[in-house]
Amino acid sequence: MRLLSSQLRLSFITWLCYVIISQAAPTIDQQISQRAASDRLVFCHFIVGIVGDRTSAADYDADMQRAKAYGIDAFALNIGTNDFTDTQLGYAYDSANNNGMKVFISFDFAYYSSSSDASAVGQKIAQYGSKPAQLIVDNKVFASSFVGDGLDVAAVRSAAGIDIFFAPNFNPAAGSSADNIDGAFNWLAWDNNGNNKAPTVGHNVTVEDGDTTYINWLGSKPYIAPVSPWFFTHYGPEVSYSKNWVFPGDLLWYRRWNDILAFGPRFLEIITWNDYGESHYIGPLSSKHNDDGASKWVNDMPHNGWLDMAKPFIAAYRAGDSSPAAHITEDKLVYWYRPTPKTLNCDATDTTIAPANNDSGNYFEGRPNGYETLQDAVFVVALLKLAGKVIVNSGSNSQTFDAPAGASAHQIPMGVGSQKFTLTRDNVTVLSDTSLRDISNVCPCGIYNFNAYVGTVPAGPPDSLGPDGLVSLTVGLHVSTCLPTPTLGVAATVAGSEAYITAV
Ligand SMILES: *[C@@H]1O[C@H](CO)[C@@H](O)[C@H](O)[C@H]1NC(C)=O
Ligand SMILES: *[C@@H]1O[C@H](CO)[C@@H](O)[C@H](O)[C@H]1NC(C)=O
Ligand SMILES: *[C@@H]1O[C@H](CO)[C@@H](O)[C@H](O)[C@H]1NC(C)=O
Repeated sequence: MRLLSSQLRLSFITWLCYVIISQAAPTIDQQISQRAASDRLVFCHFIVGIVGDRTSAADYDADMQRAKAYGIDAFALNIGTNDFTDTQLGYAYDSANNNGMKVFISFDFAYYSSSSDASAVGQKIAQYGSKPAQLIVDNKVFASSFVGDGLDVAAVRSAAGIDIFFAPNFNPAAGSSADNIDGAFNWLAWDNNGNNKAPTVGHNVTVEDGDTTYINWLGSKPYIAPVSPWFFTHYGPEVSYSKNWVFPGDLLWYRRWNDILAFGPRFLEIITWNDYGESHYIGPLSSKHNDDGASKWVNDMPHNGWLDMAKPFIAAYRAGDSSPAAHITEDKLVYWYRPTPKTLNCDATDTTIAPANNDSGNYFEGRPNGYETLQDAVFVVALLKLAGKVIVNSGSNSQTFDAPAGASAHQIPMGVGSQKFTLTRDNVTVLSDTSLRDISNVCPCGIYNFNAYVGTVPAGPPDSLGPDGLVSLTVGLHVSTCLPTPTLGVAATVAGSEAYITAV
């Protein structure tokens, strides 16, 4: 059980509703699920600040098409105050319209000022609110934010001059009022210590604790629940925004989707499509973007399998179902792991073994702060039409799991070497593949890389960073053997392990 006393009551009510719904007569059950399903929406946070290199609406088409195909309703377009913001918003709104997607603006208050920008925020909402791809909820123009506590919402509405559905990421703990907003978005998709770092014993605010806080604060107003697979960032003194920490990942992505199905919020927001710097991207590496220095831990680390895993959960959420099972249309194994064990010592060559600006309080030297909350394990989610056996070979470790029809999660201790995943039924191999990326005891690019490598069986198409996404890879590195070049799945004739060695 993952319950703390503060959430027992809510969990009990959720459980009770669940029991009542699941035992109701089919017709009522159907009515409830149809009603529940009708206004649910899936958002995905999209960072506009790193796509200033895009030159046309068409540069957004692949993202729009892919998100839509997986059941995402709208991108939350996170904007700062860059010169290119309006150009990019124009492209994004046009592409969304061309591809049958919806978008809305999410104002990033790391750049906007909550004390002086209320009018600017309202005007920006109005500027895009009448575009055909704008997300409209309850007949109002939808808008959101990243933080922004203290913003004068009445001034925002007045400057907008149109009806807006304002669901910002205000924080109840910051003393903000829920009176003037229409809903709220909780950013904290990771168990944490209440102070924006990984939890420790005695200081553990779970994602579900955050749900409870927001739901109690919002009363009957809709909640945008966060869902995220991972968090790792590792900027050293080579940039001005140095930061280096993790939040617990491991099986978070699987656990959280099951939570979401159990409590069924009206809205959810996946964090994120393309924040490569914090390693919580579920969009492709190939999604065109600039390199803010994150390529050191992002190159050769595709995450597309996470979206594959989410697909039946998204469909179940939208349908008001409590299980993804009915939405699994083909057998698939989705697996992930970090590229090295956490005991591996990279101090001699890591980029963060040096002082750097720490005004944010987010900078730590060496292994990322919170690293000990991650397990040295290989994680596998089986999405199966029929029950089977899942066999995982991680280096010299091997384990066989009985996996039921539907979705199930498994893990084995990480072993250095190749990573092989097999599905059998009645002793016959149904699926089998070896990952393109080994687990290694060599520091990749010399650094502590606590990002996750995500793969699937059957394997998806190769996915790699484009030239713009690689330009800063070598900046600040202490090894000269690491090139700004994708190496996995690029040449089909190159074995995975050999390809990996060239990336070290
Ligand atoms: C925080 O609490 C959750 C839920 O009980 C638990 O799974 C997790 O291990 C805890 N984390 C820490 C660091 O204690
Ligand atoms: C940066 O600031 C945080 C918060 O004050 C502190 O915990 C951490 O040790 C600092 N990092 C370094 C490298 O001094
Ligand atoms: C699978 O193979 C094992 C070992 O060869 C054997 O003991 C078992 O009976 C087989 N099971 C089936 C369902 O064929």
